[in-house]
Amino acid sequence: MNKNNLAVMNNLLKGKRGIIFGALNDMSIAWKVAEQAHEQGAEFVLTNAPIAMRMGEINKLAEKCNAEVIPADATSVEDLTNLFEKATEILGGKIDFVLHSIGMSPNVRKGKHYTNINYNFLQQTLDVSAISLHKTLAVAYEKDYINDWGSVVALTYIAAQRVFPDYNDMADAKSLLESITRSFGYHYGVKRNVRINTISQSPTMTTAGSGVKGFSEFLSYSDQMSPLGNAPAVDCANYVISMFSDMTKYVTMQNLFHDGGFSNTGVSEKVIANFEQK
Ligand SMILES: NC(=O)c1ccc[n+]([C@@H]2O[C@H](COP(=O)([O-])OP(=O)(O)OC[C@H]3O[C@@H](n4cnc5c(N)ncnc54)[C@H](O)[C@@H]3O)[C@@H](O)[C@H]2O)c1
Repeated sequence: MNKNNLAVMNNLLKGKRGIIFGALNDMSIAWKVAEQAHEQGAEFVLTNAPIAMRMGEINKLAEKCNAEVIPADATSVEDLTNLFEKATEILGGKIDFVLHSIGMSPNVRKGKHYTNINYNFLQQTLDVSAISLHKTLAVAYEKDYINDWGSVVALTYIAAQRVFPDYNDMADAKSLLESITRSFGYHYGVKRNVRINTISQSPTMTTAGSGVKGFSEFLSYSDQMSPLGNAPAVDCANYVISMFSDMTKYVTMQNLFHDGGFSNTGVSEKVIANFEQK
């Protein structure tokens, strides 16, 4: 195996064109997806909110992947329309894959308690973290920007199904994101055989992840609960690549757990050991 565990895969995305949202810095899950997609022969454009680009990190990734960067606030239909128009022009044809790797909650950022959230913030949380997927798909659907059998993946977290108190209103956003995935997955499937799925990833040390209160303790808890341990970002990227490839053509409208077994574990021996009477 090589360093990315990709020895058995070769040119899985050769000839495919994509759009990758959400690479902020080299910790971002989207950053790893871009690196792996490039390694697997894909051509793509990178995009992020104009404000996130001020740090300039994304240009390093763009250079490495031979990709162009198109700024777009994912809550703006106008920006998204421009993004698809430019991306198809630059890449020379319709889009085969889209990664939605976007999350942000002003309530989490400002430390608001879930029982006392600010509702304007809640609307921003839902717009940025969930409705942006609907807007992206609606723009693509209307102008037919995605190829037959194209694949769209959005990243989510198990707080959509179970309570993790400090995940706050992001839990509600993830529930909505997963619901949009199913609903739009139906309509885009009928229209163009386009498939839409979410991948529910283990907690991962990134800029968005570390915004959650008590995140590093939580990371250890989750690691001890999962039979395989927490899934690293690079392995999440591998899974995303498989979902973009033709190896998974009939998978759609699913929420796919990539979590080392966490979601099906009630308790682990490692976690129970912390409660043993001394
Ligand atoms: N890190 C974790 O523990 C974890 C676990 C499960 C799922 N996820 C999900 O993975 C995805 C990627 O997050 P990450 O952990 O790589 O963190 P990250 O901070 O690197 O990525 C979040 C991205 O969202 C972008 N973004 C925010 N507002 C935007 C807007 N209006 N328009 C366009 N882009 C915008 C940010 O610029 C950033 O690039 C998110 O959906 C997150 O919820 C993360």
